[in-house]
Amino acid sequence: MKIAFIGSGYVGLVSATCLAEIGHEVISVDNDHEKIATLERGGVPIHEHLLGQLINRHHGKRLHFSTDVRDSVRKSDAVFITVGTPQSETGEADLSFVEAVASRIASAIDRKKLIVEKSTVPVRTCDSLRKTLVLNGAPRDSFSVASNPEFLREGTAVTDFLYPDRIVAGADDEFSVSALQEIYAPLTSGDYYSLKDRVPGPSNWPGKAQMILTNAKSAELIKHASNSFLAMKISFINAVSRISEAVGADISEVCAGIGSDNRIGPKFLNAGIGYGGSCFPKDISAFHAVASQYGYDFSLLSEVMRINEEQRSQFLCKVRSAVWTLRGKRLGVLGLAFKGGTEDVRESPAIAIVKALVKEGAQVHAYDPVASSKAAAQFTDPSVSYEAMSPYEVAEGSDALLILTEWKEFADLDLSRIRKLLKYPIFVDGRNLYSPKQVTDAGLVYYSIGRPPALPKEIDSPIEAGRELSDSVTFVPSAGRKTPAIEQSA
Ligand code: UGA
Repeated sequence: MKIAFIGSGYVGLVSATCLAEIGHEVISVDNDHEKIATLERGGVPIHEHLLGQLINRHHGKRLHFSTDVRDSVRKSDAVFITVGTPQSETGEADLSFVEAVASRIASAIDRKKLIVEKSTVPVRTCDSLRKTLVLNGAPRDSFSVASNPEFLREGTAVTDFLYPDRIVAGADDEFSVSALQEIYAPLTSGDYYSLKDRVPGPSNWPGKAQMILTNAKSAELIKHASNSFLAMKISFINAVSRISEAVGADISEVCAGIGSDNRIGPKFLNAGIGYGGSCFPKDISAFHAVASQYGYDFSLLSEVMRINEEQRSQFLCKVRSAVWTLRGKRLGVLGLAFKGGTEDVRESPAIAIVKALVKEGAQVHAYDPVASSKAAAQFTDPSVSYEAMSPYEVAEGSDALLILTEWKEFADLDLSRIRKLLKYPIFVDGRNLYSPKQVTDAGLVYYSIGRPPALPKEIDSPIEAGRELSDSVTFVPSAGRKTPAIEQSA
């Protein structure tokens, strides 16, 4: 099928490329001329595993790039809308880009087409889309509108798209149903998975993707409810981590115990500094706003957002309690992206924490495998340096080392080397990438989430389980002293 994607951001570019991969003729459109020029030259504007390879495989054959909406719509049987739906000041989704694109599509429609809403939008957007298309001149029988939400995650977007848990097709008429079935047929029939040169998928892949057919409104709700549920899972475990830490339990053991119940599952139960990114914060807020519009106070979501914010300030307390005052301290920071595997720093909890540390007078030396330049563009401050080329470089001479992003490479550090490089042996892990034993065996004092601080054997201190130690234990470095002292507050 001939397909156009209007909007070549994360979802648009990945989806366009993957539909080309499964056999369609696709045009990926964007009004950012520089982005399209980069793609035309063979560049990839985002850091995403496997995306460059696939673009390279199909560019100029089944995958094309354009800035011309009208021409691309005319050439296509189906048009996917994949423009941004940012958060407005009131917390709702700002749908002005979707509306603008819809009016441009309307004026280009010359024969019956499927218009698919793939951007994350509030329920009933399909209705508004239909109205906008008609108001802008598209004859009522020249299009069908469907909702086909996307569930891919940054960092694993290509495999998520090609090996989905489910494809949700929200359609209110036969034309939309059969067009969506045709588009995804290579995945739902399993044909794609028998190709020799397919992108490799998970070992437990069942062989075919399942399509869930719903009406358009249900599909729209599924997307918001899914993201909200996942965010709720994260806030839930972060709330449990507070109790776990206070009583001297270990949140990793608690998670393993909870997650092994099939009804709950182990995923999205990693306690940390809270969720971020371009999706969860805005989608949870938008879903909350949608509920209010329909007369329901979805206070559970307010609590999810509150816990998420609190998790950041809790982490700051932990850092303060580890190094005492922040003014003039040099802190090594590992990770700036909102999660591992991406260069995306939008709504990154890591950046929020760096800003707060700087506000309190700390000097931050940050390292991220790919996100440093994006972070530097977003937050410029003479107290932050982004020049380090390795975790060891930021550790050297620092008063403490902080992990803020769950990059795989940060889970495999040479801790003895880190110990030697740090000015004081303080390691504050906001993503629980280590076990307390691993860190303390290397001679470092370990602060993590949902577990009491852990001390190396040589630093003897009466840490008792059952006390809120993160606030009561203060590490007090003093000039010229390399061995830390732990002070218990009353
Ligand atoms: C999320 C959803 O997972 C996708 O299904 C969805 O398609 C996407 O939003 C979207 O709406 O476009 P993404 O934002 O790429 O995907 O990132 P996630 O992997 O979901 O992580 C979100 C945040 O939660 C990150 O900051 C991550 O560090 C945090 N997180 C995740 C935790 O703190 N703990 C966990 O156990 C899992």
